[in-house]
Amino acid sequence: MSSTQQPPVLCLRQVAKHFGPVTALKSVDLQVERGRVHTLLGENGAGKSTLMKILAGVHSSSAGEMWLRGEPYAPATPQEAARSGLAIVFQELSLCNNLSVAENILATREPSRLGWISDAKLVATAKALVDDLGLPINVHAKVGDLSMAQRQLVEIAKGLSHDADVVILDEPTSSLSDSEAEILFRIIGRLTERGKAVIYISHRMEEIMRLSDDITVVRDGEYITTLKKDETTTSELISLMVGRPMENMFPPRLAEPAESSATPLFSVQGLTRPSEFSDISFDVGAGEILGFFGLIGSGRSEVMNALFGMCHAEGKIRLDGETVQLADASDAIKKGLGFVTENRKEQGLVLNQTVRANITMASLSQISAGGILQNARERRQASEEVSRLGVRTHSIETVVGTLSGGNQQKVVLAKWLATRPRVLILDEPTRGVDVGAKFEIYRLIRQLAAEGTAIIMVSSELPEILGMADRVAVMAEGRLAAILPVAESTPERVMAHATGQHA
Ligand SMILES: Nc1ncnc2c1ncn2[C@@H]1O[C@H](COP(=O)(O)OP(=O)(O)OP(=O)(O)O)[C@@H](O)[C@H]1O
Ligand SMILES: [Mg+2]
Repeated sequence: MSSTQQPPVLCLRQVAKHFGPVTALKSVDLQVERGRVHTLLGENGAGKSTLMKILAGVHSSSAGEMWLRGEPYAPATPQEAARSGLAIVFQELSLCNNLSVAENILATREPSRLGWISDAKLVATAKALVDDLGLPINVHAKVGDLSMAQRQLVEIAKGLSHDADVVILDEPTSSLSDSEAEILFRIIGRLTERGKAVIYISHRMEEIMRLSDDITVVRDGEYITTLKKDETTTSELISLMVGRPMENMFPPRLAEPAESSATPLFSVQGLTRPSEFSDISFDVGAGEILGFFGLIGSGRSEVMNALFGMCHAEGKIRLDGETVQLADASDAIKKGLGFVTENRKEQGLVLNQTVRANITMASLSQISAGGILQNARERRQASEEVSRLGVRTHSIETVVGTLSGGNQQKVVLAKWLATRPRVLILDEPTRGVDVGAKFEIYRLIRQLAAEGTAIIMVSSELPEILGMADRVAVMAEGRLAAILPVAESTPERVMAHATGQHA
């Protein structure tokens, strides 16, 4: 960390942005200094990513001024921004699944500067970068075969493949586990030591308090204030961000789960898929929340995919004591299952369709009569879910791809809530969601449980599991290491099982 006397490397004054009728930014000021981590904090839809895209030359601003190293700055294209010394790791992954890691990392290099390069040179350059950053990734692998966490690390390597004065990281840890996040934090430390300015965006308060030097709060597209980390607290930041104080992170349980009857609502026995997971057995009762914790790569998401009929696995699945065969996802939906996936961009949403179409697409049978869609009912249902979840959207006819990341996540949830599932699987349900909206989502999960839904909640955030679940299933290396009542679960105990260190 250097002194704060030098002039800011990047300076923004009254920057505004309108998208047609939508005002994404009203007026934002920002001063970023070399050698420091400057966090941008704000609720979903506050305008953080939009501001970063203006800096990165993806959007042009509607008003305001910017200076980089004291010179007026207004990049017309991402290439121009990169040439000026600005690097960005985007919030939504921008990788090509059918290309290799090496090809993806170097894809944004300008051909004129790179010229023609051989495959061997490409691989060597990418490998040197990945090694330098200390990322545990094989540069030959196809991106489509990587986990979400690995893809995010590739996205980071891609963003850092240019030498830059200002590095922007937009929610880089949203699908990283703690150990992978540590790798990123080390990289950030090295960048600031080399005098780079880092602009950091995250909804995870612990890491914000740990990494930041300066924190700027934005609310509804407006600049609120800039504080030094050492001179503020988490609760002060949260109340600045949401505009009101927030006491509890987790809403209370609405009712004790019903006494476990003879036949649990949902029961899984001996679920096995060779080389991914084996012998997974557990029950979830009506009204119960079963947390699923495991390090990335432990097989959690693979198990959830199999439970939803998205891939084949040996073993028995019972609903109300009856054995069910789930041929595919639509079969699973028919039988009363819902699945909020961790990968909203590929599996959860149709990005170029409206909020309305996305919310109702899994529950069309409920809003059709004689096989014909009832438009008024469809609109009513979509509007209800939008207000229930507080999705920040101009209207239900807005294209989902233009919503902020956290609001897209709320649409995925709305879609599954609309199906009124009996068993709901939630894989990282609050990924990228701000603290205020998280509370709303937790409240909804509690409400669904109170209505008798059996809930399986996968999360890599241990506080979330311990705050919400009744029991915790811990996975390690494709197996269930333990199922613990939450009352007997400490973070240490759960981690010991997850890392295989439990005696
Ligand atoms: N291309 C676009 N067209 C229309 N509206 C847009 C577009 N991009 C962003 N918006 C709108 O601008 C507002 C700010 O979105 P932005 O993505 O900047 O929020 P954010 O602060 O990054 O939120 P999150 O924490 O959820 O990522 C939102 O209301 C969003 O719907
Ligand atoms: Mg964003």
